Amino acid sequence: MSHDFHERVENSIKNPKNMGEMADADAIGTVGSPGCGDMVRMWLKYKSENGKRIIDKATFQSFGCETAIAAASLATELIRGKTPEEAAQMSGTDLAADLGPLPPTKIHCTQLVEDALRSALSGPQADPPPQASEAGSPASLMDSLNPKSHDASGV
Ligand code: FES
Repeated sequence: MSHDFHERVENSIKNPKNMGEMADADAIGTVGSPGCGDMVRMWLKYKSENGKRIIDKATFQSFGCETAIAAASLATELIRGKTPEEAAQMSGTDLAADLGPLPPTKIHCTQLVEDALRSALSGPQADPPPQASEAGSPASLMDSLNPKSHDASGV
């Protein structure tokens, strides 16, 4: 395992960029890794520039390992200003390129970030916006992936 890699991950998570929910997002994507149980959610906000729709801002939330957090942080910086089509062409490795070569056990971490981005790019659109402002029950990543709060209607 690369010493360099760990150092880069540590540096990145010391000051993660764009972490947190985005109340006025245009799109949200949430994914979970069945293998390790880690989860990443990504919010996207678009704007129009020169007649093109581009990503104005991206944020993320992660219940995941440090690599996933570092990769998501890098990814949200990297995709800003790109069109959805350009962003969709980026692989997890592209998104986390600044971390350097990934140890084989960490490749799925960047894949998770790629999947969260793809999920956000392809919808669902953020129609009901995240209820961050509602006191009581914010729509947390954990809630949405473990919908125990919704009653299993049994019908
Ligand atoms: Fe599973 Fe990193 S160990 S996302």
